[in-house]
Amino acid sequence: MCGIVGYIGKRDAAPILMEGLHRLEYRGYDSAGIAVVDRAGGLRLAKCKGRVRELEKLLPQRLRGSAGIAHTRWATHGEPSDRNAHPHCDAGSRIAVIHNGIIENASALRARLEAAGVCFRSDTDTEILAHLIAAMPEAALDAAVRAALRMVTGTYGLAVLDAARPDAIVVARNGSPVVLGIGEREMFLASDPAALVRHTRNVVYLDDGEMALVRADGFETSTLDGGATVKTPSTISWTNEAFDKGDFPHFMKKEIAEQPEAVRRTLSGRLELRFQTTHLGGIELAAHELLEIRRIKILGCGSAYIAGCVGAHLIEQLARVPAHAEPASEFRYRNPVVERDTLYIAVSQSGETFDTLAAVQEIKRKGGRVLGIVNVVGSTIGRECGRGIYLHAGPEVAVVSTKTFTCTSVAFALFAIQLGRIRDLSTAHGGRLLDALAALPEQIERIIAREAEIVRLAEKFIGGEHVFFVGRSAGHAVAMEGALKLKEVSYLHAEACSAAELKHGPLALITPETPTIVVLPRDDLFHKNVSTIEEIRARQGPVFVVTHPGEPPAGVEGAFDVPTSEPELDPLLLNIPLQLLAYHVALQRSCDIDKPRNLAKSVTVE
Ligand code: G6P
Repeated sequence: MCGIVGYIGKRDAAPILMEGLHRLEYRGYDSAGIAVVDRAGGLRLAKCKGRVRELEKLLPQRLRGSAGIAHTRWATHGEPSDRNAHPHCDAGSRIAVIHNGIIENASALRARLEAAGVCFRSDTDTEILAHLIAAMPEAALDAAVRAALRMVTGTYGLAVLDAARPDAIVVARNGSPVVLGIGEREMFLASDPAALVRHTRNVVYLDDGEMALVRADGFETSTLDGGATVKTPSTISWTNEAFDKGDFPHFMKKEIAEQPEAVRRTLSGRLELRFQTTHLGGIELAAHELLEIRRIKILGCGSAYIAGCVGAHLIEQLARVPAHAEPASEFRYRNPVVERDTLYIAVSQSGETFDTLAAVQEIKRKGGRVLGIVNVVGSTIGRECGRGIYLHAGPEVAVVSTKTFTCTSVAFALFAIQLGRIRDLSTAHGGRLLDALAALPEQIERIIAREAEIVRLAEKFIGGEHVFFVGRSAGHAVAMEGALKLKEVSYLHAEACSAAELKHGPLALITPETPTIVVLPRDDLFHKNVSTIEEIRARQGPVFVVTHPGEPPAGVEGAFDVPTSEPELDPLLLNIPLQLLAYHVALQRSCDIDKPRNLAKSVTVE
């Protein structure tokens, strides 16, 4: 998604801004741009469609100036093009604006400005802001931005630079994140801490409805109505190195490999071996409150939603509380019934996904209780929920989610065990689950060590067009995640379906050219899944399985077995080879693995 970077201080802004843009590349974008106020007080602008390295080629050799803003754009209003790339300026090229989000009353405002004689140079909603701010009679830049924003409805995280007043940058936030980084007589600003962690780990997150006047020597925050606000800086725990690929060819590969360590961190300090239960301090729910929960509703988008499906199974199986996962977008648009004795759980790696955030806000408005399972500490969803479970998985940079899917599933297991032990989960079963959780990191290491087997398996898929993924019960969630991963990175058409549903439609598509991957744990449903395999084989469909050790069913063309765990935790391990499969199919098809086309890491628009 769009990314914002800004700098004001004693150094030249351009190199800092360009480095920041590189840090934000992982979020997904289609164009980039930069504006710096030069030593003569002029606004120097460069922007283009394509990658940040192409923008670099456009930069003037000597671009001196110590205040600037830069942007990566992911098109919403207007196609990806040079002219639609941010920053956008007013007619006099004095005001430069970069903006994440969508201005909803853009067409009305544009018509009004055009009627007043303004000529637009782009198709974007953002350009409107530049013209509005430039036209405001207010003397101070923050007052002019505030006045312009009063005319606007929609969402924004934005930064404004004024060549006539280059001693400050104004930022504002409504639905799209803005974070300030505090340096030594210099200030940084960004939409994502990844862009500033190299320079400072001392940060301030703006809240919705807040703006800030940022100068080299500090900042003042206020509400959009003008009332001063007080912010307490916090420290980012992630280091700059965590955002580097190191010796790995791709972030996706690095993050798959990091899973054993990431799972250890999610588990750290949370296993209560003495009482065969778990301890999650951040959920801030006493035992009697947990006992009163009658239903659990889980909300998220993309892989976070699918991890929620795994979580719902874990909760139902271990705690015997009805639990259901739903895409956050569907939930928020259907005027949902929010119940007093339902616990809502919002899942988000970034903590910034717009639909998930909006679902959380809807639940809170209706008086519901919501807790977050979030990776990025201090993110909007984390703060909005106020309580929950942080994954501590470390930064996830690849657009596709791998380690945070696994860690979210682990977090759900921890929660389900705590909830279960308050109810009917026996000490013996609790104890077995804790042992199984503690064994997961080493089991994941063993799967990753067999990567060569997956490389050979991947060769069988590279020439095809369609792949089906089939599973039952929690295995269906594994199939969904396997299909999502494969389509995201390799662009093969991959579709997941519940094994029993196969014969109600998708079976019509099975041919010798359409392979099916069956999620086949050796559990109570093993024989049902074997029957599904026979149905597919009867239509000459090639079948591959992810399974447990033992003789694979007859006619299967490839099998990968994972170590056994407690049955409820099987999905976590069965998913790992499918991540590697997606990676290697994409690699062999020469895809842009860390930045799949059209996709973004955190989707901060509706
Ligand atoms: C995007 C990403 C997915 C991710 C989803 C939800 O679509 O490409 O990988 O699962 O957003 O993101 P979140 O940060 O809320 O987990």
